[in-house]
Formats: sequence, C-alpha cells, structure tokens
Amino acid sequence: MTLSEAKELAKKNIYNRPVTAGRLSGKIAVVTGGAQGFGFGIAQQMYQQGASVVLADINEELAQASAATLGDRAVGIRVDVGNPASVEELMIRTVEHFGGVDIFVSNAGVLKAGSLSELTAEQFDFVTKVNYTGYFYCVKYASEIMKAQHEAAPEKWFDIIQINSKSGLEGSKNNFAYAGGKFGGIGLTQSFALELVEHQIKVNAICPGNYYDGPLWSDPERGLFVQYLHAGKVPGAKTVDDVKAFYMAKSPIHRGCTPEDVSKALFYCVEQDYETGQAIPVTGGQTMLN
Ligand SMILES: NC(=O)c1ccc[n+]([C@@H]2O[C@H](COP(=O)([O-])OP(=O)(O)OC[C@H]3O[C@@H](n4cnc5c(N)ncnc54)[C@H](O)[C@@H]3O)[C@@H](O)[C@H]2O)c1
Repeated sequence: MTLSEAKELAKKNIYNRPVTAGRLSGKIAVVTGGAQGFGFGIAQQMYQQGASVVLADINEELAQASAATLGDRAVGIRVDVGNPASVEELMIRTVEHFGGVDIFVSNAGVLKAGSLSELTAEQFDFVTKVNYTGYFYCVKYASEIMKAQHEAAPEKWFDIIQINSKSGLEGSKNNFAYAGGKFGGIGLTQSFALELVEHQIKVNAICPGNYYDGPLWSDPERGLFVQYLHAGKVPGAKTVDDVKAFYMAKSPIHRGCTPEDVSKALFYCVEQDYETGQAIPVTGGQTMLN
C-alpha cells in the first residue's frame, strides 16, 4: 500500500473505531520507542483507557513481545524514526492494521552525554537525528493521515504529543546534544501547532523529570546510576544507592517521574480541546516554568 492509498483507507474508516471503555475509548494511538521504558508504560496506560496501540520501535522483537503482554488491541511494528522511509512505512502499516491514527506519541529518544572535548561529531549527529530530526519525520507522515481523516470528518480533532524532557526547558551540563535537541523539539512543537491547527490537529510536548526506575537509569550494567558512580559524577558516592539518593533530592517531591505521571499529562492534552503548542513539565517541581 502507498501513503496515498493509506490516506484513502483512513478516510473511509474514520467512523469505524473499536467500541471500548475508558478515557481514550475507541482511539487509535502510535507510540514510538514503545517497546520499553516511558514509551511502553505510556502505551500500557493508554491501552487500559480503551485505546488500540502500535508499539513502534527499532527493537522489533521487544516491541512485539511487549505488545503481546497488553492484548489484542496492541501490535509491535518496527520503525527507525531517524529514517523517513521507515516512518512513512510505519504510518502505512498502522492504517493497514487499525484503519487510522488519532494520537501519535513521539517518544523514541537516545542519550549520549559528554563534554565538548569528549563528544564526537558522529555522536552529536546520532542524538540529533533520533531526538530532533526524527520528531520532524514522525509529524510529517502522521499529519498526512490525520489531515486526510479531518477532510472526511471535519468535526474531529487529533493529537500529536512529543515526549520531551526537563532538559528541553533548561540546559544540562555535559549533555548538550540531548538538551539542544529537546529545546529544538519545543520549537518544532510550537511551529507544528500553528501549522496544523487548521486541520484540527493539536500538537503539545510533555517534559518529564527523570524516570529512575526505568532502564535508562536503572539498568544494572549500562544504566546512568552505574555510569555516574563509575565516572565519579556524584562527589563522595560509594554505591548506586548514594547516586540515587543524590538525584532524588533534586526534586521538591522526593521521587522520580513515572509513566503514570506522564500519562496524566497526556490524557490532559487529548481531553483539553482549548490548548495547543504547549510544553508541560512533569518534574515533581524540579523545573518550574517562568
Ligand atoms: N528516562 C528518563 O529519565 C527520561 C526523562 C525525561 C525524558 N525522557 C524521554 O522519554 C523518552 C523515552 O525515554 P526512556 O527513558 O523510556 O528510554 P529507553 O531507552 O528506556 O527507551 C527508548 C526506546 O526507544 C527505542 N529507540 C531508540 N532509537 C530508536 C529509533 N531510531 N527508532 C525507533 N525507536 C528507537 C529503543 O529501542 C527503546 O525501546 C525519550 O524521548 C527520552 O528523551 C526520558
């Protein structure tokens, strides 16, 4: 199927949604980076609220295994968000499988920390391609389907939500490739929101604090807690627990961010029909808006 054919199919299907209960009753959602971490947790919350979900991930095997734990309204599909042809294919396969898309969550992200003297040009380009350029590719193709659906059903609204970061709201020492791409993501969010509002597509970003219980931080071999312990980043820390305590103390609400916290902001974006182009912090008060 081509993208044009997928658009036609999505138009035909716009009033054909599964009858389910919950805050996202009948909605079809795509979550990139949905195989694990925040993406999987968000997909799980959306599924429990009645959505059908595509777990779209470069790790196809894990995406499919994670989808299988949710149930028959979930499917795992491979995507590399840094490759426009792969994102186009994701949208075609989503329409083939579920008939359309109502909510697109751009969540896939990577992190390579390093100072100016350490970080290579290749590492900078890799982070930028996934976190910043990948968001553009996702909105480019997801909005094609949503625009077609809006043509067929002018009363309907659709949502694009970027999982950004508190590092998109303030600089991050020795982590500029990540912070720069996330700041850029907020510029894209505002600009996409202005362009897509005439098609009744809202575009918002959510800026979570650190998800300490997720694999990025807690993986016993490659997680940031272990890395920071070995790098001596936290003065006086002798164990992973010392490093963890140091980071927990940074937030006025002394705990890490969870997928449940992020999902509450996501439900707000979908249910609120008078807001677009915003970046919503979910940081336990660690980062406050001006
Ligand atoms: N973990 C945190 O503390 C934290 C805090 C704030 C924001 N975030 C943001 O939340 C999002 C998810 O982070 P996470 O901590 O769950 O990460 P994670 O590493 O646990 O999961 C990321 C997922 O994205 C997938 N992925 C990586 N590159 C991809 C690509 N090119 N195409 C498709 N999929 C790809 C991975 O396979 C993985 O399944 C990211 O955008 C991240 O910047 C994370």
